[in-house]
Amino acid sequence: MITENNGVFHIQTASYSYLFKINAYGIPEHLHFGTPVQTEDAEALSCRPGLGWGCSILLNGEDTASCLDTLMLEWSGSGRGDYRESPLELAGQPSDFRYESYEILKGNAAMACSLPQAHGAEETLVITLAQKNAKLQLYYSAYPTAIVRRSVLTNTGEAPMTLNKLMSFSLDIPGNFTMATFNGSWIAEMRRTDTVVGASKVVNESLTGSSSNRHNPGFLLFEPDATETAGRVYGFNLVYSGNHYASAQRSHQGLTRVMQGINMSNFCRELKSGESFETPEAVLCCSNAGFGGLSKNMHTFVNDHIVPVAWAHRPRPVLYNSWEGCVFDFNEHRLLDLAGRAKDLGCELFVLDDGWFGARNNDKAGLGDYTVNKKKLPHGMEGLAKRIRDKGLDFGLWFEPESVNVDSDLYRAHPDWALTDEFAPVFGRNQLLLDLTKQEVRDYLVKSICPILDSAKISYVKWDMNRHSIALGSKAHDFILGLYEVLDRIFTPRPGILLESCSSGGNRFDLGIMCFSPQVWTSDDTDPVERLTIQQGASYLYPQSTMGAHVSAAPHAQTLRTTPLATRGNVAFFGCLGYELDLKHLLPVEVKEIKTQITFYKQYREVFQYGTFSRNALGWQVSDGKNTLAGVFHGLVHAAPSYEQLRLTGLKKDARYRIASLTQTIRVGQFGNLLKHVAPVNIDPNGQLLRIADRHFTLPYGEEVMTVSGAALMNGILLRPLFRGTGYDQNQRTHGDFGSDIYIVEETVENRQE
Ligand code: GLA
Repeated sequence: MITENNGVFHIQTASYSYLFKINAYGIPEHLHFGTPVQTEDAEALSCRPGLGWGCSILLNGEDTASCLDTLMLEWSGSGRGDYRESPLELAGQPSDFRYESYEILKGNAAMACSLPQAHGAEETLVITLAQKNAKLQLYYSAYPTAIVRRSVLTNTGEAPMTLNKLMSFSLDIPGNFTMATFNGSWIAEMRRTDTVVGASKVVNESLTGSSSNRHNPGFLLFEPDATETAGRVYGFNLVYSGNHYASAQRSHQGLTRVMQGINMSNFCRELKSGESFETPEAVLCCSNAGFGGLSKNMHTFVNDHIVPVAWAHRPRPVLYNSWEGCVFDFNEHRLLDLAGRAKDLGCELFVLDDGWFGARNNDKAGLGDYTVNKKKLPHGMEGLAKRIRDKGLDFGLWFEPESVNVDSDLYRAHPDWALTDEFAPVFGRNQLLLDLTKQEVRDYLVKSICPILDSAKISYVKWDMNRHSIALGSKAHDFILGLYEVLDRIFTPRPGILLESCSSGGNRFDLGIMCFSPQVWTSDDTDPVERLTIQQGASYLYPQSTMGAHVSAAPHAQTLRTTPLATRGNVAFFGCLGYELDLKHLLPVEVKEIKTQITFYKQYREVFQYGTFSRNALGWQVSDGKNTLAGVFHGLVHAAPSYEQLRLTGLKKDARYRIASLTQTIRVGQFGNLLKHVAPVNIDPNGQLLRIADRHFTLPYGEEVMTVSGAALMNGILLRPLFRGTGYDQNQRTHGDFGSDIYIVEETVENRQE
C-alpha cells in the first residue's frame, strides 16, 4: 500500500516500510527503510539538525535544517550544499530539483525503452521534481518483499543538455555498515568480499560491457552484528546486464549514502529539448533476520517478479549438455548414442552445445553462421531434434548470437557489422562482437535464429556470450538495449522455450538477463569444491532456480581434482541439475549412482529449486515448510576428526521429525591394499579382481535414521562419526577427501496427523 499524508509518503507491505517526506524546501527527505513502522513515526525517524554547522551551506541562512549535507535525502543535486556524491551529473551544471507533484499508479509503469522490468507490482509511486530546464521523475514500485526504484530525466528547456550521470536511486541510511560484494573472474565467480564502509567511498562496478564475473551488480550492506539468522541486512541489485556502478560512503553524521545505476564512465548523452533518459530498475530489499532473511526476501522477489511469468515456479528439467563430453567432436550417431544413455539415466532434456553450425569445428571459425553442418548432422536440425524427441527427451540448442569469427561467411559478407573502434581490432576467444546498436544486425539475428527454433521445435536455448566489449559509455549502454530488443523479439512470442543465459559461465549473472532467462549457467567451473564457493556467493541474492548446476567428470578439467561422484551430485542438487560428461565411459557403478541421484532429485526437485535456502557452518539447507534437505560438505580429510554438529533453522520446535541420510556408497577400489584388513581373502590391490570389483561394487556407509524434535535439530545434533582410520565400518561416514552428505528431514506421520 502506498499513502501520502501531509507530504509524508509511506510505501508499506507486510515485510517493510519505506518512508520519506517532502520538507519545507520541496526536498524529498528520506526517513526509513526497514521493518514496518507507522506513518506517525515520521517525525521521530527524521534527522533533526542542531545549531551551527561551521562552513556548511544552508538553503536558507536562517534555518539550520536547510543544510542538505546533514540530511537523509531521497535524491541529491550538486553544488547546492550537499557535498556527498550526487546521483546526477549534467555536464558542468549545478542541479537543484524540487518537488512538484506525485501520482500513485496501479501496477507497474512501463518504460519507453527496451530495458527489462520486474512484473506484478502492487502499485507505483511517481514523484516529479523539477528545476528550471529539466524534470526528474523518481519511480517507486512496491512488491511484497522488495521495493524497485528508477529515475527518468527529461529536458524541458529549449537548449540541449548533456547528461553524464544518472543513477537509478540514491538512499541515505543511518548506521554502520559493511558492504559484501561478489567478485572473481572466469571459472572463479562470486567470491564474497567484505569491505567496511567508512569515510572513503567503497565502489562496486563493472567496465567490461557485461554485468561481469568480476563484480556482480548485486551487493549487501550489513550491520556488524548481522549473522545468518539475525541482524540488519540490506540487499541491492540492478535489473541490467551491462556496465554497472554502485557506491557506499559514510558521512561524518553517520549516514551511509548508497546509490546504484548504469556505470557512467565515459558516458555522455545529449538530450534535446523534450527528450528523456530512463535508468534501469534497481531492487532494494531489507531484513532484520540476517543474511538468511535477506536472501529469502530477494529470492521470493526474483522467483515471483523477475523470471518470465511462464517459468515462474515451474520445475526445471534435468538436462544433459554435450559440451564437456564432446566439445566440437560429434556427429549425429554419437549424439543419439549419448541421448539414449542420458534418457536411461533419467535426464529429461538433451542440449546440443557449440559446434553444430557452419565451419565451427573449433573456436576459431564459423561463429555467426547458423546453418547446420550437414557433415555432422546429415538429417539437419529437424532430423536430429525429432530423433531425440523420439527417445523421449526434449531438445535444446546452443547459440552465441552476439559474436562473430572473422573466419565466417557472416563476417566476409558484412565486415562492417562487427563492433569496432578506430584502432586495430582486439579479439577475445578469437571473436569480435556484432554491433547490436545497428538495426540491421538485430534484424539479422532475429531472422537467422527464429526459423531454427520453430522448425526444429526447440524447447530450450543456451544463449552464450564469450568476450568482453570494446564499447564505451553510452555505446555500451546502447549495445545492451539492442540485446534486450533481440531477446524480446525472439523469446516473448515463444514463452514455452526455456532460455538459459551463459557468458563463459557466470559473466552475465544478473536480474536484467533473468527477465528473459529463468536460469543462468552459473560458472564454467563444475568442480564441486569450487562450486561450493560460487553457488554460495550467488545464493545471497539469487534463488537456486536461477543457477544451472552440472555434474561433470573427475578429475576435473579446471582443477585436476578428483572428487566423489556423490559430492558432484550433492552440490549440483542445490540448483537446476544437469550432467555434462561423456556418458559412454561411465562405469556400471557410476551409471547406477547417477540414476539414483536423478531419481532422488526429481522427488525433491521443487524443494531444491524453490525452497527457502540458508547457509550454516556445515553447508546448506533448503526447505518448503514440509521437507527440509540439508547438505553437509567437507574438504580434505583430517585424521582423528572431531564430531560434527548439524544445526538446522526454521523448524517447528515442538514437532517431531524423521531425519534420514541419503544412502551413499564408497567404491571398493578406493580401499586399495587396505582391503586385506577386511576381506576374508588376500586380494592383490593392483590386480584384475579388484579392478573388476571396483567397476561393479560399492560399500554403503554412515546411514542415519532418527526421530528427533525440531528443538533438538535447531539446537544441533551430532552426526555419525567421520572415518577414523580403523578400516571399513558401515556406521562411520567413510567419504575420503571432499565427501559430503545429504539429510532428508520430514515431520513424522503421527505429527502431521495431529
Ligand atoms: C562457453 C560456455 C560453455 C560452452 C562453450 C562452448 O565457454 O560457457 O558452457 O558452451 O562456451 O564454446
